[in-house]
Amino acid sequence: DYDASPFVPGGADLQGLRDAAAGCRGCPLFREATQTVFGSGEASARVVLVGEQPGDQEDRKGEPFVGPAGGVLTRALAEAGIDPAQAYVTNAVKHFKFEQQARGKRRIHKAPNLHEISACRPWLASELRLIGPEVVVALGATAGKSLLGSSFRVTQQRGIPLPMPSLDGDGDGDGEGEGTLVATIHPSAVLRADERARADAYAGLVADLGVAARLLR
Ligand code: URA
Ligand code: SF4
Repeated sequence: DYDASPFVPGGADLQGLRDAAAGCRGCPLFREATQTVFGSGEASARVVLVGEQPGDQEDRKGEPFVGPAGGVLTRALAEAGIDPAQAYVTNAVKHFKFEQQARGKRRIHKAPNLHEISACRPWLASELRLIGPEVVVALGATAGKSLLGSSFRVTQQRGIPLPMPSLDGDGDGDGEGEGTLVATIHPSAVLRADERARADAYAGLVADLGVAARLLR
């Protein structure tokens, strides 16, 4: 099975994890991507936001949520009353998975599968263990599955404070960790929604982030 565990150093701080993650070969996604995109923020963060995987721009820049989805997220966080400077931002999967139609053509995002999500989970688990946030926000289905197991459904579990599961086990979401988890849609779902549905999708994202914001007060 694919697994990042052999690459995760014990006793490292966030910078040590970031340095080690740059050399991860725990699954095949490192081959085509430009670089590992590790989480960004302070170890003292009270809230951790977990996305899916880096997108095209994140892959080029090496930082999470610096593209269009990041724009939506930053705006929604501000509207919900979460200070982005107080948040640590990361992804369930740390390499960009894409399909390239032809050389030099646009790279089309592909959703990571359960093998890749589970392979990369040790990095997310180690980030969460070091930071110990009060609130974890799962942005979309991939983050939800990584944190809560493969039966996670955004539509059913969004916007409800859930006990944070332990990530040290087999990743099926049982066993309790510390803190509270709130799931919501992925910010790129707002961008993908058609014009009629977009305002509602965005309002739903802000409302769910508002649940997280109230837990931080
Ligand atoms: N989408 C994600 O899930 N994460 C990013 O970092 C960028 C886009
Ligand atoms: Fe390692 Fe995750 Fe990248 Fe796979 S996606 S190579 S597990 S960092």
